[in-house]
Amino acid sequence: MIRSLVILSVFIVSSSFGQQFTTEKRYFDDFAGQSFCATRSRNRENTCCNDRLDECSVPIAGTLCYCDEFCDQHINPDCCPDYEPVCKGIVSDPITYTCEVGDVIIKEFEEGKVNCNLCKCRAKGHYECEQDECLSDTDLIRDVNSHGSQLGWKSYNYTEFYGKKLKEGLTYRLGTFEPRVKVKSMSRLGHNADQLPRHFNSAQHEEWREFISEIHDQGWCGSSWAVSTASVASDRIGINLKESQDLSSQNLLSCVRHQQGCTGGHLDNAWRYLNRVGVADDECYPYESAVGRCLAKKSDNLRTMGCKLPNNQRESLFKMGPAYSLNNETDIMWEISTYGPVQATMWVYPDFFTYRSGIYRKSQFVDQKPKGFHSVRLIGWGEESNGYQTAKYWIAANSWGRWWGENGFFRIARGTNECGIEDYVIAAMADHHDRKQARKVRSHMKRSNRV
Ligand SMILES: *[C@@H]1O[C@H](CO)[C@@H](O)[C@H](O)[C@H]1NC(C)=O
Ligand SMILES: *[C@@H]1O[C@H](CO)[C@@H](O)[C@H](O)[C@H]1NC(C)=O
Repeated sequence: MIRSLVILSVFIVSSSFGQQFTTEKRYFDDFAGQSFCATRSRNRENTCCNDRLDECSVPIAGTLCYCDEFCDQHINPDCCPDYEPVCKGIVSDPITYTCEVGDVIIKEFEEGKVNCNLCKCRAKGHYECEQDECLSDTDLIRDVNSHGSQLGWKSYNYTEFYGKKLKEGLTYRLGTFEPRVKVKSMSRLGHNADQLPRHFNSAQHEEWREFISEIHDQGWCGSSWAVSTASVASDRIGINLKESQDLSSQNLLSCVRHQQGCTGGHLDNAWRYLNRVGVADDECYPYESAVGRCLAKKSDNLRTMGCKLPNNQRESLFKMGPAYSLNNETDIMWEISTYGPVQATMWVYPDFFTYRSGIYRKSQFVDQKPKGFHSVRLIGWGEESNGYQTAKYWIAANSWGRWWGENGFFRIARGTNECGIEDYVIAAMADHHDRKQARKVRSHMKRSNRV
């Protein structure tokens, strides 16, 4: 073994990954903590050697390391990793390495979470992290907020979303499938925009406001198909019966067949169930944010299910007329102001999760390919002038709780089919057993163009 060939590089550890410290690489650092000189002999005299003695060595990694005095006296030290403690009695504090990933510091050989990604701190500050997109993306939030005034809305780092992956949000905070079969579309003829008010909000409407349902929180369950359907039906039945209702979205979630429960469902199936079978109220069949077993039997009604009966003592489950769809801005407005909130579907881009306030439009900071599909409840509209321009918007209720957006609501650009919000709007008439109402629906349908 020619000693001079044992070349150990002395270098500065620094890399684009951003390890926080710089340090000199020392003799066979990778073997730190293992015994070499210590294995030569039990007694100190034979273990370490004076001056230069090339036989005073131990094999290491296909070469040799040395336990003689010469080993650390030349430019390329080749001492064994345990030379200092064993031969010199130097017990230095072990160098403790850490990994600094963003503002998170992880100890050597430990794991830590950096937002939604798990990072493993390996030896000497090297680390590996999962590379998933996060639901609360720090860079995205910063970008949106620095362009907030042009964009028209603000972004926020929600505690509830921080640490979650984007894919978890897409699966468990949405949960509506793109329609394969669309319910019948209907156009409301003879209504144009100038006959409609510039502002309308069902939740502030004098006669309706007490019947408009609360903001729900679907939790980490992709059940927007059930929650948005139940809320629209609740509002419309409430307005119709002049009695506040909260229909059970759990009843839909557990009982509608051919759905995928907490990983999504089709709206047409939910509306068909409300039309043919009906559901109990939320107090009687409360939301659990999990699929569960269907607790409603075919022959059940409110009494047999042990629910509190509504004021009119009616026992039948809450049902809706057949669903129909609209896809014209003014038709949608007319529908809302005449019969109450409607259901809308929309494409979801990652920045939507971070929406805090303002009029939402997909920003230029996200991949222009939509990532998810969602359903929400439209309760009204309005417009806002920002200097020289007028920005028209829909007022929509989301199902993520009141902590999100504008107290659970959001506003989204109107008239430009933002995120497809005007593509496929669904409504149904309350209580089709009500004859007068049914006649009214039929005559409307006759007058309208069905597609
Ligand atoms: C976002 O919120 C989380 C938890 O609420 C916090 O730990 C994190 O530092 C926040 N990030 C930013 C960039 O403010
Ligand atoms: C919506 O309907 C109104 C009234 O029928 C019509 O004037 C308008 O052009 C329609 N808009 C679209 C986008 O089809």
